[in-house]
Amino acid sequence: MNRTTSPPARGRLIVFEGIDGTGKSTQLRLVALALRQRGYPVVATREPTEGPYGRRIRALYADRGGCSREEELDLFIADRRDHVEAVLQPALAAGKIILCDRYFLSTAAYQGANGMDVGTILARNRFAPVPDLAILFEAPIALGIERITASRGEGLNDFEKVEGLTRVAKIFAALDLPYIRRIDAAQPIDTVRDTILALILPLLPPPSAAN
Ligand code: TYD
Repeated sequence: MNRTTSPPARGRLIVFEGIDGTGKSTQLRLVALALRQRGYPVVATREPTEGPYGRRIRALYADRGGCSREEELDLFIADRRDHVEAVLQPALAAGKIILCDRYFLSTAAYQGANGMDVGTILARNRFAPVPDLAILFEAPIALGIERITASRGEGLNDFEKVEGLTRVAKIFAALDLPYIRRIDAAQPIDTVRDTILALILPLLPPPSAAN
């Protein structure tokens, strides 16, 4: 086939979702490594981003009183617009396999738990490409909190308070979208990684076609 005239292969958008402390970031690293070893061009990224809106969001962790929940939602959406335009769309167009730590289902669950309407939140995210797969990490809230406080040696930020997290988990549990797959994140780390790979690999083109 003449490569100059064939359309570019569209990449894949795979997002990791779930409450704090369920191991999303660790698994994202492990899965990125496993896919790269198989020859796939992987882009690993996350939200909130390191961009201007992401930085303002992180500043909010320390002081939630500084903005209304409407403004908070606006910030997450503005951060996502930048991310989609600067990172996700170009990577998809270049045929990359994107692994993204949190995406619009986090906005639905967290800003939904904060009192905003979940349907409205999802509607406001229609500009964002629909993921090929959203892996929803499920684990008891107590386990997530224990992992954050014990292993990371961190205190819980405002988004991570128990009561809030219970509401967040309920919304995640109620989401019913065709691209969501739920996994038991309380399993051993290698088991979780293999479960995730088994979900992702069937969705990918052969590695050579993805380059
Ligand atoms: P997290 O993945 O924990 O980032 P970091 O490791 O940099 O702290 O995400 C930070 C918090 O942001 C997390 O508690 C969930 C929250 N969040 C929202 O409330 N809405 C969103 O749309 C996103 C992407 C994250």
